[in-house]
Amino acid sequence: MFQVGRNIVAELRRIPDYRTVGRVTAVLGLLVEIGGVEGALSVGDRCKVKRRDGVAVICEVVGFRNERALLMPFGMLDGIGIGCEVELADTQPQVYPDESWLGRVVNAFGQPVDGKGPLTEGPTPYPIRNAPPSAHSRQRVAGKIDLGVRAMNTFLTCCRGQRMGIFAGSGVGKSSLLSMMTRHTTSDVSVVGLIGERGREAREFIEDDLGEEGLRRSVVVVATSDEPPLMRRQAAYMTMALSEFFRDTGRDVLCMMDSVTRFAMAQREISLSVGEPPASKGYTPTVFAELPRLLERAGPGGPGQGSVTGLFTVLVDGDDHNEPISDAVRGILDGHVVLDRAIAEQGRYPAINILRSVSRTMPGCNSEYENQIVSRARQLLATYEDMAELIRLGAYRLGTDPKVDEAIHYFPLIEEFLKQRKTECTRLADGYAELARRLDLAPAQQEVPDAGGQPAANPQGATVMERNRLRPQVNSRSTATNAGNDLNAAKRALRHDQQ
Ligand SMILES: Nc1ncnc2c1ncn2[C@@H]1O[C@H](COP(=O)(O)OP(=O)(O)OP(=O)(O)O)[C@@H](O)[C@H]1O
Ligand SMILES: [Mg+2]
Repeated sequence: MFQVGRNIVAELRRIPDYRTVGRVTAVLGLLVEIGGVEGALSVGDRCKVKRRDGVAVICEVVGFRNERALLMPFGMLDGIGIGCEVELADTQPQVYPDESWLGRVVNAFGQPVDGKGPLTEGPTPYPIRNAPPSAHSRQRVAGKIDLGVRAMNTFLTCCRGQRMGIFAGSGVGKSSLLSMMTRHTTSDVSVVGLIGERGREAREFIEDDLGEEGLRRSVVVVATSDEPPLMRRQAAYMTMALSEFFRDTGRDVLCMMDSVTRFAMAQREISLSVGEPPASKGYTPTVFAELPRLLERAGPGGPGQGSVTGLFTVLVDGDDHNEPISDAVRGILDGHVVLDRAIAEQGRYPAINILRSVSRTMPGCNSEYENQIVSRARQLLATYEDMAELIRLGAYRLGTDPKVDEAIHYFPLIEEFLKQRKTECTRLADGYAELARRLDLAPAQQEVPDAGGQPAANPQGATVMERNRLRPQVNSRSTATNAGNDLNAAKRALRHDQQ
């Protein structure tokens, strides 16, 4: 009996308590101004504005001006006019997530939008706008997470609780890379926020990319580009709130957001409407204050909790990687994956530019052997890139520099390794083994301690480098130095010509 009573009280608490506080005095663009609210409202509060036809529109207080409150709607403003009644909700915006939400698609309010019927609510409220856990209460980022994409797993290994950004201009493959990882990851739960993207893409993502199998262990939050800015912004908060719920059940959650730029744009629209002066490229100071508050919510949980590994896409405006949002997000996150239009144009997908991408938890999370494979591959890529122009122009003569010859030999093999079809999945350990094989490095087994308990000889030292036909017989040091000088002179000449 007592339990029933408690349940009823809990249910009643969920119903927002609305009381009338004022009336609409003006509507300006996206803003609704209300009067008669002195001392009754504060920023972030929820209100209901009753339209003339009796339908209520939920709004949020976004600012104040001359003792009037400024509201923004979560819906359409049509039907709102001077004198319309405004009711204030007493409760904080919160959501009651539940295990049964896995496999479902919800909107920014946590309401189902997939036509699969109503959602069961859980017992614990989660604030939609939550503060990140304090730094000292968090566990450390540890343990690799398998994302199923070779290039990511080997060159940009991601750990549980790490936050990575995927940076690229429009149409270079951000969403496709994200969908590959959602589908192939081994993490317990994925929470995917599709923020301000096209409506067509949302459906394609859920049906084609995630598929039934992927959706079963995911919750998708959708706010398409046509929705009001408050909805788009709240969808990002909702994605984090749902991730926090699953994290608190002890799960390792993969939280993906496509895209953080759309969140920043939504916040910009809100701020500019209220009259906040723009700071950089029209973005207001609030945008740069909100970004860390959102992104910091991902990360490792406290003791006994799971983790939220964050993968956030950033649309790089005009392919300028120093534009303000890219710059701000790069500074907050623990790593960045740069997708390159030039690589995509060559048809190599995912178009990750390995040399410009960094995972800040590497190499700490890797074994000595894995680090050796990766640094060997990076070194070959760097050498090739340095000489790429000369090679393409045919100005480089094979045999001039053994290091360049080696890079020319291995470059296509590494490129082939980096290429991955959307439906293809490569597990973490297989990725390293495959890369080692392509680079003619000894397999990992050699790292197993020998009978005496000592680690085996450095496997890279034991490498059997293929003496391929391209490799010139450059033995004397002076010849190599001369060759280097020749190359530098050729490069200088090329640069001079280009100027
Ligand atoms: N792994 C892949 N294999 C084959 N093609 C791919 C792959 N990844 C991306 N593409 C191609 O790139 C195109 C654009 O990809 P995607 O929509 O993911 O880009 P985006 O960066 O998210 O674009 P936007 O900025 O418009 O959101 C796809 O339509 C597809 O043709
Ligand atoms: Mg996209």
